[in-house]
Amino acid sequence: ELKDNTIIIVLGASGDLAKKKTYPALFNLYREDFLPKGVRIVGYARTKMDNTEYHKRITSYIKGTDNPDVANKLEEFKSLTTYISGGYEDSPSFQNLNKYLEELESGYQGQERNRVFYLALPPSVFIPVAQHLKEECYYKGGKNRIIVEKPFGKDLESSRHLLGALKQHWSEDETFRIDHYLGKEMVKNLLVLRFANVALSAGWDKNSISNVQITFKEPFGTEGRGGYFDEFGIIRDILQNHLLQVLSILTMERPVSFSAEDIRDEKVKVLRAIPPVERNDTLLGQYVSANGKPGYLDDDTVPHGSVCPTYAATTLWIHNPRWEGVPFILKAGKALNEAKVEIRIQYKDVTQGIFKDISRNELVIRIQPSEAVYLKLNTKLPGLDMRAIPTEMDLTYKRRFADAKIHEAYESLILDALKGDHSNFVRDDELDVAWKIFTPILHWIEGRNGPSPKPVPYPYGSRGPKELEPFISKYGFRRTETG
Ligand code: BG6
Repeated sequence: ELKDNTIIIVLGASGDLAKKKTYPALFNLYREDFLPKGVRIVGYARTKMDNTEYHKRITSYIKGTDNPDVANKLEEFKSLTTYISGGYEDSPSFQNLNKYLEELESGYQGQERNRVFYLALPPSVFIPVAQHLKEECYYKGGKNRIIVEKPFGKDLESSRHLLGALKQHWSEDETFRIDHYLGKEMVKNLLVLRFANVALSAGWDKNSISNVQITFKEPFGTEGRGGYFDEFGIIRDILQNHLLQVLSILTMERPVSFSAEDIRDEKVKVLRAIPPVERNDTLLGQYVSANGKPGYLDDDTVPHGSVCPTYAATTLWIHNPRWEGVPFILKAGKALNEAKVEIRIQYKDVTQGIFKDISRNELVIRIQPSEAVYLKLNTKLPGLDMRAIPTEMDLTYKRRFADAKIHEAYESLILDALKGDHSNFVRDDELDVAWKIFTPILHWIEGRNGPSPKPVPYPYGSRGPKELEPFISKYGFRRTETG
């Protein structure tokens, strides 16, 4: 339930995440009347600036202000939004913040006061900030929540260290770990597609399904973000979190209820049935300059000679009765030919006999852009011949839900956190098992136990390394006629 009298404190208010995601999401929620009554938003960061300067920045974060309705709403939104500067590692700064919050709260009716701390911060200050917030800014007479975002460490050990340190101050119930893919419309739709459709749930297993691909493609490279990226690489940036989350919902057993714990119990169970990724099941790539676009190593923010992968395909196996033997290929890359995130479930061959060379069925769930679900079915070509051709049963959202608004992932997640609903946030044990799956391969890539593997090159703007096609066919994927 939404709590009135809530202050949302955005720590790192002058940073990139706040600018690109947090403020636009908060504004859209406000605009559509989703925020609680009496909400106030406080920006906090080291940068010294006054409210006028801060409001100017917020205006620059919001698109569409040439529309007078948006512009008016933005003025209202700004009037609820103030800024205070301070450090991240000293108590007096947080005492000062607390004093400020108390002043704001003195306008609240009744006793209830709730504080939601959104940490849009670099990981180096997660621990001190979480600690100071608990010690100086925790209001005992109401709900306190903390929203944090990746990177949650770099491997199993560092993740456990970080979680352990945060847990000393904030309980699991108060903590909301964002993986923004869980807020995406089509990822939330997976529960409905899978569990509200007998037509799909029958045959959702190794007997019918040959292989599954979960693909993330971005058409741009690191472009100035190379410092961060090089330290993490594509596996930590996309596979270990976003794609693995999608995989877990796609493959988990049916939860007993829609409650956060029931859902997350099932996700953890299926993740625990996945052994660590093997080297032989991994293909690593790095983009090189092509068509006038710079290669990864040409980015000034990338260390000279880096072997950090900007592309990875890894095949995961689930050892349980439903999925034994089905390859799940997760692949992600930067600087590719298009922007696309999709799930492609390829069914097995029809038993040979009456048909020859017939395409396999595929169920494709396109997460972005242009949300869609389509099923490739063979159909008789109309006419007097008996000829089967591949066709599509197509649920493209733009057509089927032409007037529906698809909300940004961050809007959905911030609202969930305000309501205290953990369903679409990552639980501690879930994170732990996600790291277990990827830590050995990450250590190998980093050269902890020998020389680092060299990623294969692929041209900027291409479909990925040329080694990809043989890689996916090794796992039984067959290109269908239309695909
Ligand atoms: C982030 C990654 O988590 O997700 C970025 O750090 C990536 O590198 C982004 O660009 C992709 O998110 P979306 O919502 O644009 O698919």
